Amino acid sequence: MKSLLIPAIVVLSLCASVCGMRAAETPPYLDASQPVETRVEDLLARLSLEEKISIIHADSKFTTPAIPRLGVLRRWLDDGPHGVREDIGPDTWNPAGRTDDFSTAMPAGICLAATWNPYLGFKEGEAIGQEARARGKDIMLGPGVNILRTPLCGRNFEYLGEDPLLSGVMCSGYIRGEQSQDISSCVKHFALNNEEFDRMNINVEVDERALREIYLPAFKAAVQQGGVWSVMGAYNQLRGQHCCENDYLLNKILKDEWGFKGLVMSDWAGAHDTRECALNGLDLEMGTEKQYDDFYLAQPYLDLLKKDDLPLAGLDEKVRRNLRVMFATHVFDAGRKTGSLNTAAHQAVARQVAEEGIVLLKNEGNTLPLDAAKLKTIAVIGENATRLHAHGGDSSGIKAFYEINPLDGIVKRAGEKVNVIFSEGYRKDGGADLTERAVAAAKSADAVIYIGGLNHDKGFDCEGADRKDMKLPYGQDELIQKIAAANPQTIVVLEGTMVEMDAWLDKVPALLQAWYPGMEGGNALARVLFGDVNPSGKLPATFPKKLSDTPAATFGPSAYPGTNGTVTYAEGLLVGYRWYDAKHIEPQFPFGFGLSYTTFKYSNLKLIPSDGTNGILTAQFEIENTGKVAGAEVAQLYVHEKNPALPRPEKELKGFKKILLQPGEKQTVSIPLDKAAFSYYDDGKKSWVAQDDTFEILVGGSSRDILLEGSFNLTAN
Ligand code: BGC
Repeated sequence: MKSLLIPAIVVLSLCASVCGMRAAETPPYLDASQPVETRVEDLLARLSLEEKISIIHADSKFTTPAIPRLGVLRRWLDDGPHGVREDIGPDTWNPAGRTDDFSTAMPAGICLAATWNPYLGFKEGEAIGQEARARGKDIMLGPGVNILRTPLCGRNFEYLGEDPLLSGVMCSGYIRGEQSQDISSCVKHFALNNEEFDRMNINVEVDERALREIYLPAFKAAVQQGGVWSVMGAYNQLRGQHCCENDYLLNKILKDEWGFKGLVMSDWAGAHDTRECALNGLDLEMGTEKQYDDFYLAQPYLDLLKKDDLPLAGLDEKVRRNLRVMFATHVFDAGRKTGSLNTAAHQAVARQVAEEGIVLLKNEGNTLPLDAAKLKTIAVIGENATRLHAHGGDSSGIKAFYEINPLDGIVKRAGEKVNVIFSEGYRKDGGADLTERAVAAAKSADAVIYIGGLNHDKGFDCEGADRKDMKLPYGQDELIQKIAAANPQTIVVLEGTMVEMDAWLDKVPALLQAWYPGMEGGNALARVLFGDVNPSGKLPATFPKKLSDTPAATFGPSAYPGTNGTVTYAEGLLVGYRWYDAKHIEPQFPFGFGLSYTTFKYSNLKLIPSDGTNGILTAQFEIENTGKVAGAEVAQLYVHEKNPALPRPEKELKGFKKILLQPGEKQTVSIPLDKAAFSYYDDGKKSWVAQDDTFEILVGGSSRDILLEGSFNLTAN
């Protein structure tokens, strides 16, 4: 142990160098021209045992300590994932009360996923990265990529939907964008944090195939395609061991199998035992309420190391991973990016993500887009028309520079010639008078834009608790019916995540799903409503008709929310559309669904075997815009295996592409497929297998709108 301590004389000379000695004496770790690994080893060798310990745990709610003698700065972490959260703490969850901690509020993760546009993922990540740097941050706690297993999970809005491929592609773009700004992203919550019920402790029992095929791929993509530098462990347990100190997840899968070289941090208060943290892959302990010296990876760890009860090599490995992230983000380097806040470009990204993420679910008789020139009076009805959401939802909430609510956006876009009247319609403690006024407003207008749905109150779309059902709250089902009876031109806009709609869906001609569209959301929504933007969002998750249709509800409380501290994922692989396909259940709106103001024609599918250099196969087809306005289409490619050795889902998304087409324009779309597109996880062999078989290639505009089909024989050769 002694040999790791640096003699005083060396310390003195290093201090002098950090404090500004001649360039020739710059130690390797401060020399930006040196390879990262050289710098890591150099700095590691200069740290005392105590300094090493200081690097692997917090010294305030969102920081780790500085080591001034070596020029190691305090590291600042912040939530994530929808912008840079206001400053908290230092030792409580209360806001720090600053006036300089605003940020651009991006649309929620599920809205980003609904764009199906990885480029926008990159742009959003890049903008948040720039703001994080301008706010002096080093690591941003996002994106969140836990799979939507049940509509009831309180954090579904933060995540990227039900499909592993879509989540992985979208998060990789986001991470690359964010990390391009000298910030580390921190993908979370690894893994299986699919409900908020008993989230600190619930034990997840899931079969190996579902783990590998459904719950892990987005994380794997974050590591291998996004190149993410930090990973946050989840609060819950997997197979009896907390995820922040889960040997199988952290050591075996993340680090050994996937080759992750960055750091694993705990979720806040997600660590439970010094020895397990030390041995099972945790590299940074954050967030507990106790004295920072008492953290599992602080004094208790130091004590065990000093007694030779735990290996020093384990500590070095943790420090190495922390240092690697510092060097990767240029913490020590002149010229580290300094970022920018609330620029016009960031506002534009926020608006564009919302515009492309809003999903048109119903549009009978071309009710939309609205023509302002033909309308005298519009009644905007519903509490969500004026309610601000950006600050809500808990850790993902943002102190937004501003927030355009739907009413603001509609008033501005409708223009002076249109009379826009507003009626609240419902609220938490609302009464019959609100309904009466709303119905009267509806009667007096040419069209109604009803803006309701959920909000970020605890028990809806909010961290720390799940929803109790899938219903619209505050009597909205009855309200919408009354409004639609008063005015058949009622357009429903829902904010939040999925709800049951059977009570009124057939009584309204148009429906838009607007999620939580961020601080430019009102403008984006108005531009969609009035046709300045042609909607191109597609659902990143199935909207079931009713809760009892969902897989997690079918198997009773042991499958959700869990009994006796354990939740068993009895549906296995059949998550999201995989379930509705297998059980022949008609969803309200299928995965991948979304309408447009134009129409698209798919044709001419060709399956072109690769020449061996690039994957296995390229699916090529044409899409033509057969309508009168420009529009973007998300073409989706699903694969079905004919005779699988192990049961496989009916079809699985294996590729997609979003293309913009002018009226009459036709484009050829190519989607390459590699071996992974045909593989399943064989739990017997403990590896991915693509077997010789016939595969059907299904291409279309949603998981239930397959327009082109081809088949392909995969052989070992
Ligand atoms: C959440 C994380 C968040 C952390 C810090 C936890 O309660 O689960 O997502 O990053 O707090 O705010």
